[in-house]
Amino acid sequence: MSFVIRCLDCGHAAPFNPSSMHCPHCNSQWRAAEYDINEVARTFPSELKNRPFDLWRYQELLPIRNPNPSLRLGEGGTPLIQAVNLGMMLGLPNLFIKDERQGPTSSFKDRQAAVTIAALKEGGITEMVAASTGNVAISLSAYAARAGIKLWAFVTSLVPAVKMREIALYGSQVVKITGSYDQAKQVAAEFARQRGLYQDMGARTVTAVEAMKTIAYEIAEQLTILQGSPTGSTDESPKWRTPDWYIQAVSGGMGPLGVYKGFCELKQLGMIDRIPALAPIQAEGCAPMVESWRKGLEKAEPVLFPKTRIETLATGDPGRTYIMLRKQVNETHGVFESVSDEEAFRAMHVLAKMEGISAEPAAAVAFAGLFKLVRAGIIKSNETVVVNCTGHTLPAEQFLFGEGWTRDVDLQGTSATPQDGLLAALNNVTPSRFSRVVVVDDTPEARRLIRRILQSQGDFEIFEATSGREAIELVNKEHPDLVILDLMMPEVDGFAVLDALRSNPDTANIPVIVATAKELTMDEKSRLQGQIQSLMLKGDFLNDEFLEEVRSLIR
Ligand SMILES: Cc1ncc(COP(=O)(O)O)c(C=O)c1O
Ligand SMILES: [Zn+2]
Repeated sequence: MSFVIRCLDCGHAAPFNPSSMHCPHCNSQWRAAEYDINEVARTFPSELKNRPFDLWRYQELLPIRNPNPSLRLGEGGTPLIQAVNLGMMLGLPNLFIKDERQGPTSSFKDRQAAVTIAALKEGGITEMVAASTGNVAISLSAYAARAGIKLWAFVTSLVPAVKMREIALYGSQVVKITGSYDQAKQVAAEFARQRGLYQDMGARTVTAVEAMKTIAYEIAEQLTILQGSPTGSTDESPKWRTPDWYIQAVSGGMGPLGVYKGFCELKQLGMIDRIPALAPIQAEGCAPMVESWRKGLEKAEPVLFPKTRIETLATGDPGRTYIMLRKQVNETHGVFESVSDEEAFRAMHVLAKMEGISAEPAAAVAFAGLFKLVRAGIIKSNETVVVNCTGHTLPAEQFLFGEGWTRDVDLQGTSATPQDGLLAALNNVTPSRFSRVVVVDDTPEARRLIRRILQSQGDFEIFEATSGREAIELVNKEHPDLVILDLMMPEVDGFAVLDALRSNPDTANIPVIVATAKELTMDEKSRLQGQIQSLMLKGDFLNDEFLEEVRSLIR
């Protein structure tokens, strides 16, 4: 395997020494691994067939000479999940989630830790220092534990206590800094210098960027399986697919930096034709990259006092990473975007309710960014989008749920027989009558989506009709409190259903929400005038608005 470590400042190429942090020629800390692509192309991708789907599958393109299996924890190889419900809500049929929660410590930082610790072990390192907003230290600690490396983890006091305890659980020393993350990094650097210890250098760590690029390889491979080989792909020279967009929440920016490098290498290998547009998303209260990019600045203006509850993303000074990422974002016609904490928490809740994926607030920032970019028309409905779900949830905070999120059953002190007591208690839990809703749509996915939105919040009894004819029968039979009606259906369409319901005194007053997939013409709108209570475009009903509409009509 041949690769060199190339200095980004003086161009000097040197062999890889995992424990050295500088270019031997000019002392720069900014270097990148460079592979002999022609040599790699000889075995890649034909060799992949015989390898498990994990990060080490791409070993030719990783800077580890002898990957040590005994250090592994099952890193990489995370699923690419199609987000059908969310895709329907956003009008984005090709929406995929790279589920990095499924790493060994539940965040995408496991890739970085797996490769970095493997390299440091090869380099004979036994003690190291890292500053972290939580997840990096958790991942490094897990792998360091296996490798017999002691980690000093410098975290800010705002890092959630559960994360600190997990770091400690793996045997690392937690050093809690009351100050900003940038200050914690400075203290960690000084500590490492005084003790002569190896220090993790964030995005300057060659192994970290190399590890992150495996996300790109996996996405390309998985999309090809899910969407089929692109045209021009042959057995002799197979080609992979790339999405139109890659979206990720960023703090220091290492993730997209690595992912971009991964796509570039695939392009050099002739495996893909184009690199996706990058969309790094930041939390509004600490968005130095977004603000600097909007101002057209080449260098980032640091944010000195981050004001976000999402501590994981609180890098105030991204330094050179911004300069590099800005170039990549511009070159790929991507965008930087920011979202408020509230938007992120809301996206976290929507993602969990609609897709069964419980992400931590930092990861939810990427989804809130997706919602914003779709609404702004920057991401188009025909585009393929991959969002990195970078990390798992913390214990979910109560403010997300509002009133009545638990129903309490108290069996203490009930003297009745267990069964009677249970039944009585359960009767208090469920209201005597649910609001009844008939959902009319000829596509099963649309019915499922609406059912899901209703189910996720509220007590609804839901009936489904798959055609206009069935709808008229069902409404006559069930007398629902509300009808949610699709317009475009074969044979008896939504207009005909409305006519039938309105002309029958029994059903004339039942409120109707029309949910349509396309903008209506003036003529169609005038046909609905006075006939319905509300008109929703299917693509953009994000569930809260929709539910408010439903509730107000049922009331
Ligand atoms: C869950 C999660 N998402 C996103 C990020 C941002 O990572 P970076 O900007 O370093 O790529 C982090 C960083 O720790 C994280 O833990
Ligand atoms: Zn140099």
